[in-house]
Amino acid sequence: MAEWTREARYQRIEDVDTETFKNLKQRVDASPYRQTYHIQPETGLLNDPNGLIYYDGYYYISHQWFPLGAVHGLKYWFNYKSDDLVHFKAQGPILEPDTKYDSHGVYSGSAFEFNGHLYYIYTGNHRDNYWKRTSSQMIARVKEDGSVEKFPKPVIHGQPDGYTSHFRDPKVFKKDDQLYAIIGAQNNNEQGRLLLYQSDDVVNWTFLGEIQTNLNHFGYMWECPDYFELDGQGVILFCPQGIEADGNKYRNIYQSGYMIGHLNIENMTFDHQEFQELDRGFDFYAPQTFIDKDGKRILIGWMGLPESDYPTDSEGWAHCLTIPRELTLENGKLKQRPLKALETLRTNKETALGYANKFNRKLHPYEGKQYEMIIDILENDATEIYFELRSSRNESTLITYNQRENSLTLDRSESGLLPTNVDGTTRSTILDTPLNQLHIFVDTSSIEIFCNNGERVLTSRIFPSEASTGIKASTESGQVYLQFTKFELKG
Ligand code: FRU
Repeated sequence: MAEWTREARYQRIEDVDTETFKNLKQRVDASPYRQTYHIQPETGLLNDPNGLIYYDGYYYISHQWFPLGAVHGLKYWFNYKSDDLVHFKAQGPILEPDTKYDSHGVYSGSAFEFNGHLYYIYTGNHRDNYWKRTSSQMIARVKEDGSVEKFPKPVIHGQPDGYTSHFRDPKVFKKDDQLYAIIGAQNNNEQGRLLLYQSDDVVNWTFLGEIQTNLNHFGYMWECPDYFELDGQGVILFCPQGIEADGNKYRNIYQSGYMIGHLNIENMTFDHQEFQELDRGFDFYAPQTFIDKDGKRILIGWMGLPESDYPTDSEGWAHCLTIPRELTLENGKLKQRPLKALETLRTNKETALGYANKFNRKLHPYEGKQYEMIIDILENDATEIYFELRSSRNESTLITYNQRENSLTLDRSESGLLPTNVDGTTRSTILDTPLNQLHIFVDTSSIEIFCNNGERVLTSRIFPSEASTGIKASTESGQVYLQFTKFELKG
């Protein structure tokens, strides 16, 4: 593959001729790994979900986008509209790098409503001739016809004293009728931090300071923060970079997690419980939340991570977003369940009830590449249960439940092609309660595993060959009594 020079990575769409773009689109469309019900880039690279909102009867979802190839280059926001959060209509690029302040990327940000108007707030990434970065927080108003008008100047230009230019990803939230923006930052000691701003009028933003937490030494940069309240409790989500792996925890290159606590804006403190990872799979980062039409808190993440090469890179595209998940707070923990409306994708229901043991490997007539499967574990005296998905003679994506340890392990060592620069080929987690249910979403090149009705999620890309469609269950010894329900999903 041709080398991506800096010059090539900072080209705008209109810098390449239509023939080149058409060829790229053809290569992407010919990929055997295209997803069927996930948001994925039309070409090029997708990363963080941006500007998620339910506004005036529709959902709007954008994503970070470099259109010209599967590399992190000049970022745009690409926008989708939806009336159900299940089917999405592409609206095209909504924010483009076309001002001095965002000349090197329209970076991540959020959406909010103020006085009947829809606004986007984002980080403008600018580099000077010496490649020195300036990060500005910018606002654009969405006009009646859906086009956007950027404010002529950043609302926050550069970072406050004591912090570096790693200052980005504003998320606006409302509290007591005030607008606040929580922003990811790095202090001059190269420690990740969260900064808070407040505004009464969208134009003027006052710096309130740093949110004090217990995590003073927890990575060198905190990206993509979010703050919301559930059942009267505060929740901060953020993505710390620079955390060492610790046993089964923090195994991905960067982390994404949450803390539950109480935000006191007067004292600028967040009294909180421990940091917990949101997802225990291989590919999850930079999630953002918003409120749906029924007032539920919904989360969508990037099903990918920076600094890895993915098997589709050579096809001119990379990554997708996760399915939307509903968040609830139960017994001091966040629970994540697949969005109920995804049920409208279901076709061809199949069910089976029976024992799996050491010999019972194949589940007739189950197979598939795009499906949802609910496995209820009704009785279990097996030492280990094995579920194999997308399996064939040579490939299988293996989920193992170990009863003694109460651990769940996803092993993609034989899943097919693998991303590179990833630590190991398994991800494991100890569950809070014995395994009683797996709720799994498989798309052409991904698997999202929800355990025990929202207790734990493992999200991963997999790149099996098209012929790998089998579904099997077996045990190491002993037997397990299972109820399977499977739906084909049509996106
Ligand atoms: C997270 C991130 C953000 C930034 C964006 C740039 O993946 O690094 O911090 O705004 O991606 O694409």
